[in-house]
Amino acid sequence: MNKLIVSLLLTLGITGVAHAAGDATAGQAKAAVCGACHGPDGNSPAPNFPKLAGQGERYLTKQMHDIKDGKRTVLEMTGLLTNLSDQDLADIAAYFASQKGSVGAADPKLVAHGEELFRGGNLEKGMPSCIGCHSPNGAGLAAAGFPHLSGQHAQYIGKQLTDFREGNRTNDGDTKIMQSIAGKLSNKDIEAVSQYIQGLH
Ligand code: HEC
Ligand code: HEC
Repeated sequence: MNKLIVSLLLTLGITGVAHAAGDATAGQAKAAVCGACHGPDGNSPAPNFPKLAGQGERYLTKQMHDIKDGKRTVLEMTGLLTNLSDQDLADIAAYFASQKGSVGAADPKLVAHGEELFRGGNLEKGMPSCIGCHSPNGAGLAAAGFPHLSGQHAQYIGKQLTDFREGNRTNDGDTKIMQSIAGKLSNKDIEAVSQYIQGLH
């Protein structure tokens, strides 16, 4: 493991805010309203709505708090989390984390360039590979809050990378790790790596 990742693990993984443990069974009922967009089991059918199934509990909880507190803007979810307590959010996170995420297919024309970036980074631009944090199969590192990416809709992934690059998503912590990585990706790179991720498992 390289130094950057070790120091990130320390800041994100160990000193992060502790949250209440979630109850997946209680979470299923509380997540009913979310199913309209994210799918009842978290496997969203629409490419602009992220799949939540199989996503890490810690990452899910952080995103819900960020959306609720306005640190990440999701217009479609305006007001939806306002009346949910920390325990409700923890239960919902536990529910979606316990579901199995589905996998899509990658565009065969883009997959080779996508794989190259995901596994090898870009030495010339000093961009690290994605696998150091998101793991070679895209499963992420749940305990550290590094999100699971594999099988996620390419359209959603592409929007996140563009949002990080353009400064429209800034909730990636003091290290600004994803803003700095996305800043080194061209539109073509984003399209290719998003396709690769959609078919990854
Ligand atoms: C009307 C549609 C809609 C509903 C209902 C909805 N969401 Fe979302 N949600 C979205 C969209 C769209 C995004 C992604 C926005 C973006 O592109 O950044 C999102 C993003 C998220 C994310 C971040 C996922 C990630 O991978 O970072 C979480 C977590 C989430 N929603 C949880 C919930 C929960 C919990 C509920 C129910 C209480 C809910 N959502 C209801 C549309 C919806
Ligand atoms: C040093 C660690 C690290 C590296 C390397 C890294 N990421 Fe990330 N990534 C993160 C963390 C941490 C987050 C969560 C940020 C947050 O809390 O919002 C994240 C979030 C993301 C998200 C948003 C996921 C979602 O569900 O919304 C995408 C997409 C992503 N990374 C893609 C990539 C790609 C593609 C690469 C390689 C080009 C990469 N990452 C390299 C740590 C990393």
